[in-house]
Amino acid sequence: MIKINRVSSLRSAVQAARNEKKHIGFVPTMGNLHEGHLELVRIAKSRCEFVVVSIYVNPTQFGENEDLDAYPSTPDEDARQLAELDVDVLFLPSQEVMYPGDLNSQTVVYVPKLGELYCGKNRPEHFNGVTTVVSRLFNMVAPNIAVFGMKDYQQLTIIKQMVRDLAYPVQVVGVDTVRNEQGLALSSRNGYLSELELESASELRNTLVSIAEQIEELDGRSGLNKTQIEKLRRNAKARLKRVGFEPHYVDICDQATLLAPKFEKKSASGDSPQADLNWVVLAAAVLGKARLIDNIEVNIKRKRKAVTQVS
Ligand code: PAF
Repeated sequence: MIKINRVSSLRSAVQAARNEKKHIGFVPTMGNLHEGHLELVRIAKSRCEFVVVSIYVNPTQFGENEDLDAYPSTPDEDARQLAELDVDVLFLPSQEVMYPGDLNSQTVVYVPKLGELYCGKNRPEHFNGVTTVVSRLFNMVAPNIAVFGMKDYQQLTIIKQMVRDLAYPVQVVGVDTVRNEQGLALSSRNGYLSELELESASELRNTLVSIAEQIEELDGRSGLNKTQIEKLRRNAKARLKRVGFEPHYVDICDQATLLAPKFEKKSASGDSPQADLNWVVLAAAVLGKARLIDNIEVNIKRKRKAVTQVS
C-alpha cells in the first residue's frame, strides 16, 4: 500500500492501474476505521483489482456546535488495517488539497430536497458538505465503483442522486451495516458512549426492528394506514426516551424517494393495495455525547391476483 497526499501522484497511480486494465474501487472515509469500514474495503476489493481508500475529516459536513474538533483520529492503526487488507492506495489529502483557497467561496454541490429531510433538518449544511467533498474526491480518484455503508442511508441515497444528476461514470454500491453483538450499528461516534450508554444504545436497533415487525403485522391484517404509522413513530420515540435517548426523528418512508409512503385507496371490494411495499424506517437520536443513526428496510411482496382471461 502506498500513502499519497497529492492529487497529481494519485492520478498517476490510478492511471497506471487503468493502463493495466484494472478496475478502480474507491472507499471514502473519515478515518478511525472499524469493522464497518473494513467491510466496505473488502467489497471494493472483491469487485476491483485496484482499491483507493481516502481518509479526510471533512470540516464542511460538520455544523458549528458539532464534534469536528473531537472527531476521533487513529491514523497509524487505520493505515495498519488497510495495509493488511492489501489496499493499493491510501489517499490522505490535506485541507489545502481538498479545499484550496477560502472555504467560504468554495463551490458547493447541493442536492435539493433530499438533503433537507431527516438529518438535513437537524444538520442543515451537513449533506452539502458531504456531496461537495465526495464530488471532489470522485474527480480526483475517478473510480469505476465507490462503496458506501447503508447505515448512512440518506447519505447513500443523496450520493446516488448526485451521481445520476451530474452524470458521474461511477457505480455507487451500498453495503449492509455491520453491527456489534447487541445489534448496535458500528460507528466512530460509538466511542463517545459510556459503558452504561453503550448498553442502552442497542435499543435504537431494537426499536427499529419492532417497527418493522409491526408494519408487517399490520399489513398482514390490512390495518396499515397513516394513523397507524403515526402511532408507530410516536411509540418508538417514547421507547427511545425511556432509555435516555433524545430522538431527533423516527420516520417511515419509501426507499427510492425517502418521502412518506403513499397509501393506495382500498377498492370497493375492500381489497388491500397490490403494489409491493419497499419502505425504510430511518431514525436519529442523541445518547449522551453521541448522535446515532440507524435504519431498517421493510420489504413486503404482495400476492398478485391471478388474471383470468375469458375468451
Ligand atoms: O460517511 C462518511 O464517512 C463521510 O460522510 C464521507 C462519505 C467520507 C464524506 O466525508
